[in-house]
Amino acid sequence: SSSLRLSQVQPQQQQPIAFVFDIDGVLMQTKNPILPHAPMVLSHLKDHNIPFVLLTNGGGQTEQARVDFLNSALSPSVSEADVGDDSDSTKLLHTSQLIQSHTPMKNLVDKYKRVLVIGGLDPQARDVALSYGFKEVIRPIDIVRATPNVWPYTRYTQHELTHHSLSATESKIETEPIDAVLVFNDPRDMGTDLQVTIDALCSDKGLFGTRRNSGASSPSVPIIWSNMDLLWSTGYPIPRFGQGAFRISTRELYKRLNDGKELEDTVLGKPWPVSYAFAEWVLGKEWRRINGSAQKGSKGIVPGLGVRPKEQLFKKVYMVGDNPESDILGGNDYGWETILVRTGVYKDGDFERNPKLARPTLGVFDNVWEGVSAALKANN
Ligand code: G3P
Ligand code: MG
Repeated sequence: SSSLRLSQVQPQQQQPIAFVFDIDGVLMQTKNPILPHAPMVLSHLKDHNIPFVLLTNGGGQTEQARVDFLNSALSPSVSEADVGDDSDSTKLLHTSQLIQSHTPMKNLVDKYKRVLVIGGLDPQARDVALSYGFKEVIRPIDIVRATPNVWPYTRYTQHELTHHSLSATESKIETEPIDAVLVFNDPRDMGTDLQVTIDALCSDKGLFGTRRNSGASSPSVPIIWSNMDLLWSTGYPIPRFGQGAFRISTRELYKRLNDGKELEDTVLGKPWPVSYAFAEWVLGKEWRRINGSAQKGSKGIVPGLGVRPKEQLFKKVYMVGDNPESDILGGNDYGWETILVRTGVYKDGDFERNPKLARPTLGVFDNVWEGVSAALKANN
């Protein structure tokens, strides 16, 4: 018959605009929500079925744990009892909307079996790596427990050592080499973490307690950083050192120990396109979830690192950030619109002090609500 049944007629999907939010300095300042604007914006977009995801250089805990915390901080009205229930439609955020700095590292589980995970808290960071599927996860605390004099000034507490570390037999520190070093988040004991990271990079094929004979640019085992933020916003009047400070220290120490050769390393996170491509995939899945066209069986798909989606689903994507050197630079390079807010790292006068800083395509706004309102107005 010539007339198409309704079910065959796909509603013309007006290409929507979409938003990608940075967290620290835009929606939160460490544990504190930026009120009233952060919940206002996310509720408005949710109520109007406008797709959005969160792209943060933060991390160190599972996506579920971070989203549970964000929901409780941004929409306290949602009952605590529902914590962890991702299907609950009353929630402001779903785990599927969060991309943390290390989320793309899910791609590496087939490449590296036994990894040293640096940064974040114990046991949270190990739990993340295990939840991604890494077979063997070693933490600096395991190395301290197996060989306490690895760093005599360690800040790991007896409680942590007792409850959150593997025994020397379980961790096989002195007999089994590691395959890679993955830096998930900022170190909590930078002394210990610096020492064991350099030990791994300069070891004889990844075995702790050994040193390779010659210096070289390529480390004994690869190191992948989840971001290189030199600074981030915590609500303290001046931005604080981020993972980038740990990376600079590691690189300088590596150079000193390897005849002045620069460390060859890999960096994920903003401003690198690999993170924006991953976020674009997640945004596409979020749009399909909202409009009910989710492709069956697509749940577990993790796109290849750096692979950009073929389909351009959105009329425009707005990256909202507080840090010109990560959020804005990365959004501009990826071809998105960008919005800079004054509630984080960026301070008026920064562009005059550093003319090379990446500038937002839409403008600088006092807060996330002003920025998103301007974008919605520009597109209606
Ligand atoms: O560790 C967090 C910091 O590096 C920045 O986080 O959310 O502003 O990308 P975010
Ligand atoms: Mg930020």
